[in-house]
Amino acid sequence: MTLDAALAERIRQTPKAELHVHIEGTLEPELIFRLAQRNRVKLPYASVEALRSAYAFTDLQSFLDIYYAGASVLLTEEDFFDMTMAYVQRAAADNVRHAEIFFDPQTHTARGVDIEVVIDGIADALAQAHTQYHFSSSLILCFLRHLSEEDAFATLEAALPYRDRFIGVGLDSSERGNPPEKFARVFARARELGLHLVAHAGEEGPAQYVSDALDILKVERIDHGVRAIDDPALVQRLARERIALTVCPLSNQKLKVYPDLRDHSLKQLLDAGVPVTLHSDDPAYFGGYMNANWEAAFEALPLTDADAYQLARNSFEASFLPPARKADYLAQVERFWHGTPSTFPANPATAPSA
Ligand code: HPA
Ligand code: ZN
Repeated sequence: MTLDAALAERIRQTPKAELHVHIEGTLEPELIFRLAQRNRVKLPYASVEALRSAYAFTDLQSFLDIYYAGASVLLTEEDFFDMTMAYVQRAAADNVRHAEIFFDPQTHTARGVDIEVVIDGIADALAQAHTQYHFSSSLILCFLRHLSEEDAFATLEAALPYRDRFIGVGLDSSERGNPPEKFARVFARARELGLHLVAHAGEEGPAQYVSDALDILKVERIDHGVRAIDDPALVQRLARERIALTVCPLSNQKLKVYPDLRDHSLKQLLDAGVPVTLHSDDPAYFGGYMNANWEAAFEALPLTDADAYQLARNSFEASFLPPARKADYLAQVERFWHGTPSTFPANPATAPSA
């Protein structure tokens, strides 16, 4: 399907929120090489091109192996700052106005990098992004699910002195064989601490992992969640309870979750009333940032103007912004799609006339 030029332009220009991006997944090969040189880290690749050509993934694990190797060049606060600032500039150019960004402290602390270095470097860049680009953001600390719950507890403990710098916890890395219940107690502890809760589920794992993330971990959003489509009762529940699925089209294509995006479940999920949102996951590895992900989805699937409007709204609705800030961003979306707020259509799902 070819994407209508006017719709393509509206997709690029609409204000949007990014709710599923791993900051380590924004590390471009050029920056990996620059940081390797700066830090005298030896890479098992001779050149940027050789590294890029290794990005031929067969599944989630084949990606994770390279993703963790790429992150090995991150050692100083300045490295984390540079990576984060480069991401913000790319996202802002795609009209991302707000981002809730994952970081994987265990990937760094296991190499002897202090968690303070990680958090300070990222958070300093985000503070500058707010001043310089009016780009708002917050951080979500992800536990690596291939490691033990004990390790996750130690990570949460080590992060507590920086409690004001992150708003929630998430769960990422190898899904199969690492079900949500493995992290039941550490999520309960995070909940007691008043942190927001999200988890990757139903990317390579089954629909049951999505249900379990909701019932056992008590998460508020599901990252990926596309396998929910296999369980009609679960799809109805996600719609009824307004639980967002943060879907990443290019990631799903590159990791062979949906090798052909024309088979992707996102249109069916949207039509069933599930609050789907669109994001970039690990844009340096999967071939594109926010707008590239939106465009890939709209090129492959019979998505309409009304869907684009809904996806833009959903991205802010599903965010963890305080109500007043959320309302401000939703008003920006309304102005973009429907003119001034006083001309809101009675039915928010009505297709825009633009
Ligand atoms: N899935 C699981 N873990 C991850 C991903 C992903 O898509 N990206 C970075 N870590
Ligand atoms: Zn992810």
